[in-house]
Amino acid sequence: MKLVTCGLPYANGKAHIGHLRTYIPADVYVRYLRMMGEDVLFICGSDCHGTPIVVNAEKEGVSPKELVDRYHEHFKKVFKELGVEFDFYGRTDAEYNHRRTQEIVKTLMEKGYVYPKEIELAYCPKCDRFLPDRYVEGICPYCGAVARGDECDQGCGRHLEPGEILEPKCKICGSKAIYRRQKHYFFKLTAFKEFLLDYLENKLEGTSNALNYAKEWVRRELKDWCITRNLEWGVKFPGEENLVVYVWVDAPIGYVSFTEEACKLKGCNWEEIWRNGEISDIVHFIGLDIVYHHCIFWPAMLKGAEYSLPKAVVASGMVKVEGKTFSKSRGYVVWVEDDYLKAGFDPDYLRYYIVSYTSHEKDLNFSWNVLKEKVNNELIGTLGNFIYRVLHFAWKNFGEVRMRVDEEILEKIREVKEKIEKSIRAWEFKEVCDAFMELATFGNEYFQYKKPWELIKKDRDECERVLANAIQLVKALIVFSYPVMPKSMEKVAKAMNFDVKSAKIDSALEVDEVVKLEKPVLPFKKIEDEKVREMEEVLMRRIEGAEGGEFIDVNDFAKLDIRIGKILKAERVKGSKKLIRLEVDVGGEVRQVVAGIAETYKPEELVGKLVPVLVNIKPAKLMGVESRGMILAVDVDGKAVLLEPERDVPVGSKVR
Ligand code: MSP
Ligand code: ZN
Repeated sequence: MKLVTCGLPYANGKAHIGHLRTYIPADVYVRYLRMMGEDVLFICGSDCHGTPIVVNAEKEGVSPKELVDRYHEHFKKVFKELGVEFDFYGRTDAEYNHRRTQEIVKTLMEKGYVYPKEIELAYCPKCDRFLPDRYVEGICPYCGAVARGDECDQGCGRHLEPGEILEPKCKICGSKAIYRRQKHYFFKLTAFKEFLLDYLENKLEGTSNALNYAKEWVRRELKDWCITRNLEWGVKFPGEENLVVYVWVDAPIGYVSFTEEACKLKGCNWEEIWRNGEISDIVHFIGLDIVYHHCIFWPAMLKGAEYSLPKAVVASGMVKVEGKTFSKSRGYVVWVEDDYLKAGFDPDYLRYYIVSYTSHEKDLNFSWNVLKEKVNNELIGTLGNFIYRVLHFAWKNFGEVRMRVDEEILEKIREVKEKIEKSIRAWEFKEVCDAFMELATFGNEYFQYKKPWELIKKDRDECERVLANAIQLVKALIVFSYPVMPKSMEKVAKAMNFDVKSAKIDSALEVDEVVKLEKPVLPFKKIEDEKVREMEEVLMRRIEGAEGGEFIDVNDFAKLDIRIGKILKAERVKGSKKLIRLEVDVGGEVRQVVAGIAETYKPEELVGKLVPVLVNIKPAKLMGVESRGMILAVDVDGKAVLLEPERDVPVGSKVR
């Protein structure tokens, strides 16, 4: 039996379109394989541990368990509505996963792959606690970007070990964190370097993006991996009351424990999958952001604990929204339930969009306008048009059709079938869609060329022959596109009394004696321009309202009271290289303002100058000197250059 898994979503927030880039292609893949006769087990589940969950629960004032329960149900519901059908959808906080995680960790300890070590850890003196992972924010030591404790999520994307982050700050209270020593446990990842190189070079299959990144990382920088955290929520580390295992230990182990549970229900044997020697028929679907964990940590853990190794890692490119990098905080996000499903869009449209838009490895841009075009031109204009025209014409004029199909037509169908099978095995889902869309185009041309509406007046028998060919093409199209659009195709298949749910891919070539027709329904509904505008507006409003969003409105700007002031007096602030103390007339009032301009200006140059001053900024003390206002200036590589009105203006004039 083949096992297919999907990266486990954090039960920490709602499903968004980024998630679907992993789940929909995986579901499509499994459906095709089953049609091709393979026995597949398809599993996933909620990732319930880790600091993001604890931090969010704390923010909302609920327990981690309550938060996780809520989002676990949410994901289940969304998957169901989208037709993503796992055989088992588990959770990593369940007893079965605790058990399997502890077993694997103990095995790794016994085999000498885990050792304790005192390390320096970020600690917040004010909150009096250690700051694991997302509890700390600082600077990435590799690229200088702002990063969180375990990951440089806005810069180079590297995994960061505890203690690596520079200038750590506590996420809860914002204070400067300090480093403190504490005993933690490490997994000897470095002992697996040779193994990993061989595995990645010669054994692991999958998309080249995943394999190439992973090889590069193993060659360059492998470090032992800290696998414990100071948290209460998680799987207890054996023998240590105050430590849990790092979430990236128990999360992938979910793949194993979910298989065990699935096998209990389905009567299969999980050990045949996970404990059957070197490489096992396991395919992991993930996004490009978690390649490190799946191609490096995970195989090393499996190898160390003597479990089977996955055969393939299939990594999708990331999702963009309207051309911009996906970002929940900046508003570039499409929520599956609230934005898509509740607005009444057909789940099959999104399935088709995601698998057909671009190659699986590339970034995928989601745009409402492109959705409209793909649906209206491709699904309706090409595929739906052919299916509906043929079935409607045949139903109206014949009711049932004797199936005499030309060898040429079957040859064409066979060609497309082979192309689909090959593309599926190569994880080229776009090519699969291209193949069945080409067949639909072929069908449209055939129908147009044969003109059955004219033929029926001259030669009814010949017309029926043409329709038989066309109906066989429709059947093939239903079979070939069923894994991508199951609900729509099931509906359409009814009109020709065809049970596509239990069909194999070879059904496309099987010719019935007669086909009885029912009145067909239109397979797809047009997306109107107005609907697109409505959805674009929802997105725009979200972007505008987002924290650090691109827009502020005019009322936000109006809150700034900026006036032209005249500098009356200026002197350096003692003990500071940068600061100058100014006395500025802002119109009927003289204010003391401290400005960081001493590197570009001498005090004596400043007196008499007109400068814009933000007068309603909260007073602050700089080097012990109170400042009541802020001089606006241009920042040139960290040095200030003053702004002056283009001509003389009265002191106190407002800047708008
Ligand atoms: N919990 C981890 C995975 C643990 S697997 C043992 C995680 N969760 S996630 O919720 O952030 O993401 C779930 C899946 O969706 C992952 O495969 C991830 O790569 C994928 N994606 C999440 N956001 C994505 C995009 N914006 N674009 C493409 N895929 C993305 O990671
Ligand atoms: Zn970085």
